[in-house]
Amino acid sequence: MLVPSVAVVVVLFLLALHRLATFRRKIQGAPPGPKPWPLFGSVHLLARHETPLRAFAALAEIYGAVFSIRLGSSNCVVVNDLRHIKEVLVAKGANFGGRPDFLRFHKLFGGDRNNSLALCDWSSLQKTRRSIARTYCSPRFTSQQYDHVNKVASKEVAEMLKNIEIQDLSKGLALKPIVLMACANMFTEYMCSTSFGYKDDEFNKVVRIFDEIFWEINQGYLVDFVPWLLPFYTGHMNKLSNWAAEIRKFILKRIVDDHNKDLDENMEPRDFTDALLLHLKSDPTMNWQHIIFELEDFLGGHSAIGNLVMVVLAEVVKNNDDVQIRIQEEVDSVTKNERPVNLFDKELMPYTEATIWETLRVASSPIVPHVATVDTEIGDFSIAKDTVVFINNYTLNMGADYWSQPEKFKPERFLSNGKVSKPAHFIPFSTGRRTCIGQKLVQCFTFVILSNIFQRYDVRRSGSLSVLPGCVAVPPDCFKLTLKKRRNKD
Ligand code: HEM
Repeated sequence: MLVPSVAVVVVLFLLALHRLATFRRKIQGAPPGPKPWPLFGSVHLLARHETPLRAFAALAEIYGAVFSIRLGSSNCVVVNDLRHIKEVLVAKGANFGGRPDFLRFHKLFGGDRNNSLALCDWSSLQKTRRSIARTYCSPRFTSQQYDHVNKVASKEVAEMLKNIEIQDLSKGLALKPIVLMACANMFTEYMCSTSFGYKDDEFNKVVRIFDEIFWEINQGYLVDFVPWLLPFYTGHMNKLSNWAAEIRKFILKRIVDDHNKDLDENMEPRDFTDALLLHLKSDPTMNWQHIIFELEDFLGGHSAIGNLVMVVLAEVVKNNDDVQIRIQEEVDSVTKNERPVNLFDKELMPYTEATIWETLRVASSPIVPHVATVDTEIGDFSIAKDTVVFINNYTLNMGADYWSQPEKFKPERFLSNGKVSKPAHFIPFSTGRRTCIGQKLVQCFTFVILSNIFQRYDVRRSGSLSVLPGCVAVPPDCFKLTLKKRRNKD
């Protein structure tokens, strides 16, 4: 009889400890933070810094790694260290699967942000959409898809170089539109088995609109947090709806209509568009709108890559010649100047790949905010349902606790024994259930475009080179660059 009673005492003791621990956590309440002003909250504190992420890093010095901040009418929490970031994204990912309810996001996606894969709340629909996309947008190294990515990238990069060749290179070149068209064609060819001429006006227009949207999504607006300012933004909101309508028109007319005509239900899908259209026939939970929005969303990913290419070029050119020379040495040693670079060279070109990672580190583009979908906790703090959670990866990417000389652009920090190596605290594509689906495509296409540009040209600045910290987007009309053909590349 003695044994069970000891066990009962132990269990009661453990229960009491657990209750005490829970109680302790509860009395911590919400994380500390600045006292908000009426109506606008603490928006003014962000305006004092070059970017919101820098403002968050400064506030973390005062209030700690997890702090509260009220922005307009939204209760927000900012998480600044790896332990708590992992808790939000991975351990408690299910509790933080929502996204903020910004009006702009609704306007861009037919009146409902849940049409967008990146801006929707987590749902079973989102799970299905992610799983359809996985084969095509996360191709594995040895897969047929990876091979196909290589073929598409190589063919389109040759077109891009031909297009650069015919420009007047004696003065600064507006390279961005050409890079964006190449990226757009890589995406339409890979996902829809079709591509467009660089002089096609409709194609030009839609590529520009996608780029405007990418820039737009990367900007913060007061109206996101202060919705009663909406009447002052009517024109802007209409512009967003019109952009969305133009994209829809192009995708239906120039891509989906033809595809639908040739669709053969008994065949393996030819591409991502086929996979989506076939899925529609077999899954009653998905409708036409879901399919078309998913295709638009993924095609829009090309703008992210075009912008990243421009940011890498800016970082390389801004820094001394060493980086460019090392990339060119790598390109020349792998290709022996006899052929263009392709995706299968990536393994042998770790410095070039490391330069892309280093750019993603210094750019520190923000992770899309998450939202608590239930009352929950971060560390010892309680977090109320609907709290917007900002993940401050600027601290992870630029903090002296995580990197030596974090302000310096040093691709070699990602190299170890001649191979690319990334520390666990480096998560430019986030982690957990909402991690970026397009990251493999980013790595593949960005590598092929950049290495082929550096193979053929010496790239230099032409005037000012402004790149915002905390952003992988550059304005649609951005800096120009000087391209000079390398002597051994006639
Ligand atoms: C510069 C390139 C890119 C960067 C730095 C980037 C980074 C990110 C980040 C940080 C997230 C948020 C993850 C989270 O909330 O935890 C995300 C989400 C996402 N990304 Fe990317 N991304 C890039 C390009 C792309 C491309 C090219 C595609 C499509 C092919 C893509 C598709 C997505 C999708 C669909 C989501 C939403 C996932 C979800 O919420 O479930 N991304 N990305």
